[in-house]
Amino acid sequence: MLLLNRFSAWLSVFAVLLLTQPISTSEVMACGAAVDPPANIEITDPGFLGYLNIQWTRPASLQNLTGCTVRYQLRYFDTYEERWRSVRTVKLTYAAQFDLEKPVKLRILTVLKCACTNGTEVQGEETETVYTPEPTGLAGSRIRDFHCIYYGKEHMECTWKSGPVQPPNSEHYLYYWHREMEETKECPEYIVSSNNERGCRFPRQSLLEFSKFNMCVNGSSSTGSLRPAYFSIEIQNYVKPAAVSSLDVLETDGWLKLEWAPPSGQVPEHCLDYEVESSTLMANGKELKQTEILENLDLGTSYELPREAESKKTCFNLRSKVNMYCADGGFWSDWSQTKCTEEKPTMNYRLLDLVMIGTAGVIIFCLSLWILTRICIKPCSKKDVIYTLYKQKVNENMPSIFSPIFK
Ligand SMILES: *[C@@H]1O[C@H](CO)[C@@H](O)[C@H](O)[C@H]1NC(C)=O
Ligand SMILES: *[C@@H]1O[C@H](CO)[C@@H](O)[C@H](O)[C@H]1NC(C)=O
Ligand SMILES: *[C@@H]1O[C@H](CO)[C@@H](O)[C@H](O)[C@H]1NC(C)=O
Repeated sequence: MLLLNRFSAWLSVFAVLLLTQPISTSEVMACGAAVDPPANIEITDPGFLGYLNIQWTRPASLQNLTGCTVRYQLRYFDTYEERWRSVRTVKLTYAAQFDLEKPVKLRILTVLKCACTNGTEVQGEETETVYTPEPTGLAGSRIRDFHCIYYGKEHMECTWKSGPVQPPNSEHYLYYWHREMEETKECPEYIVSSNNERGCRFPRQSLLEFSKFNMCVNGSSSTGSLRPAYFSIEIQNYVKPAAVSSLDVLETDGWLKLEWAPPSGQVPEHCLDYEVESSTLMANGKELKQTEILENLDLGTSYELPREAESKKTCFNLRSKVNMYCADGGFWSDWSQTKCTEEKPTMNYRLLDLVMIGTAGVIIFCLSLWILTRICIKPCSKKDVIYTLYKQKVNENMPSIFSPIFK
């Protein structure tokens, strides 16, 4: 037990050593020069709601070095994805997206590749920079439950609720920015909905897909400004298609065929997956529910399935969602209106069926009886003819004593 404790203690010391070693100050030399990290690292905020500029200069120790390519390796903590990202560049600037509500963590080092190192790469020490933005505004006044829905790729609505602390006369403002804008703009159209929810409506022309879309919700009140909240999303991942409005059910022998038109809006047809929900009322009164996801349908906007043998009626609902080939996420549309097959007649009709089958049976029985009698009568009448002929002959040749037998 003691041994184990000592061992784990030793292990943790070793682990700490391993972790701290790369950031220690051992000097790396190449071609007689110290490979120092870049100098004058600066993080500047151009006011694009978290899209920050990072700049630096070549280290003084490498100022006179020739015959080398100098590159910089930048690692920064992506606060949205909770992981370090890494880039290499020969430039002296880089811009990246950060969450201004969290510390900005940055690590940079210099990478040298020279003739005098026979073309092998030499990495210098890494330097870490942490920039913690000062929180502003009243504590507890940051908004909550912020979420966005991009309706049919036609317009987007983002909504939120007030923070736990609501100073008197609070007003909320939303500002947004994407890379095709020179500067931030205020929300084009505010929405005031019930239950303490507020929001912003963006028309399509104010939006940009497959790029960071940054938003900030801040505010003012009679006691001072509210604490700002920052968001950065890629809007193509927040699409909610419109509900399918034209769903038809066709019945052919033994099969049911669904047909519909793609939902209205700007979502390309090949970007949609569908979900079919069916509810079948069986002859025994039970209900059979089924759901089926139709992924990246090659057959367009129709779907065929066999009809349940014992079914009275089947009803269908359909909804759609942007598939994985077009976005990393999305929302299901609302369900379409329910469409049903014609109700199959049941008990009464079955009784009628039985009666009809019975009648048919009786008719067939009578018919066969009639045919049988017909078949029977003919030979009998033949027999009669033979008999009369025979009787005549007998009467001619026989003594009249026998005649009573043939009477
Ligand atoms: C680089 O060269 C300049 C003049 O050519 C000199 O003044 C300076 O000290 C040199 N720097 C280093 C790091 O050797
Ligand atoms: C480069 O290569 C030469 C010969 O190929 C060798 O003498 C020299 O030590 C090497 N230098 C380095 C820094 O590896
Ligand atoms: C809200 O944020 C925008 C954009 O950063 C800024 O221009 C505005 O002054 C802020 N308003 C308040 C009340 O803090």
